[in-house]
Amino acid sequence: MTIKSVGVIGAGQMGNGIAHVMALAGYDVLLNDISQAALDKARATIEKNMVRQVSRGAISEDEMKTAMGRMTTSMTLSDVGQTDLVIESATERESIKQAIFEDLLPSLKPNTILTSNTSSISITRLASRTDRPERFMGFHFMNPVPVMKLVELIRGIATDEATFNACKEVVARLGKTSATAEDFPAFIVNRILVPMINEAVYTLYEGVGSIESIDTSMKLGAAHPMGPLELADFIGLDTCLAIMNVLHDGLADTKYRPCPLLTKYVEAGWLGRKTQRGFYDYRGEVPVPTR
Ligand code: CAA
Repeated sequence: MTIKSVGVIGAGQMGNGIAHVMALAGYDVLLNDISQAALDKARATIEKNMVRQVSRGAISEDEMKTAMGRMTTSMTLSDVGQTDLVIESATERESIKQAIFEDLLPSLKPNTILTSNTSSISITRLASRTDRPERFMGFHFMNPVPVMKLVELIRGIATDEATFNACKEVVARLGKTSATAEDFPAFIVNRILVPMINEAVYTLYEGVGSIESIDTSMKLGAAHPMGPLELADFIGLDTCLAIMNVLHDGLADTKYRPCPLLTKYVEAGWLGRKTQRGFYDYRGEVPVPTR
């Protein structure tokens, strides 16, 4: 199974990063979204991030030009069905992902591999609603995609070896490292990372420390590149909450209960950087804690 073209569904934070690295690695990329504005914004973001890579000497101007030329955008989902590998990276909600796969099925080539960049939802359950559970798996990138070296590969119960190996080869061609996770709620990275973030929110909620002292403690005391609350804003508080709910529902253990303060921020629409407010307010020159 040789993969030449990749269809990325969803042009948000993750989708634009995935399209970026795939185009640089030499794949023909079709980026799909239901919104033209989101597609335009994604293209501009990719260009900006590639310019940054050129200015740091990570890639050449020519590589950037060729990669940008390999990328097309489309609002027609059926166009994605003609690619060799589909990576769904829409909103982290199971009903949305299922509806996308359902709509895509009639236009799929017989041997197209379907994957989801879900950060927590059951691959086996998503696969079971398609016509090809053996050619379906989890392909989970980390944010920011151009920088983070890891891709988690998750086999559903029916995923066959050829599919797994084809995806593993793609990860290697991206110059990234894959780690294999079994299909249990939130896989490996988020099973460990997001409860840590949730605990940081409890630490704030219970008044043990301020936003600044919690983030400073983990940056300087545990050598994390970002403090947990800064990282939560970066990931998106809605995504963090969705992952905690998947862990709580899927593992039925109270240790995964989402902190009420996290829920409150999400209910306020303060979702982190993408809405300019979360644990920090990003509307000014420098981020300012919101509590
Ligand atoms: N595209 C391209 N390059 C980028 C980039 C982007 N979007 N963002 C940063 N970079 C590059 C910079 O150009 C810079 O390159 P050089 O090393 O060549 O100079 C490098 O990355 C470092 O960037 P900065 O100097 O701007 O900033 P920094 O040193 O503070 O690093 C960071 C930024 C890489 C984001 C760092 O803070 C970090 O690693 N944070 C933690 C990120 C993390 O934990 N991600 C995982 C989240 S969990 C997840 O994604 C899974 C999920 O499902 C929720």
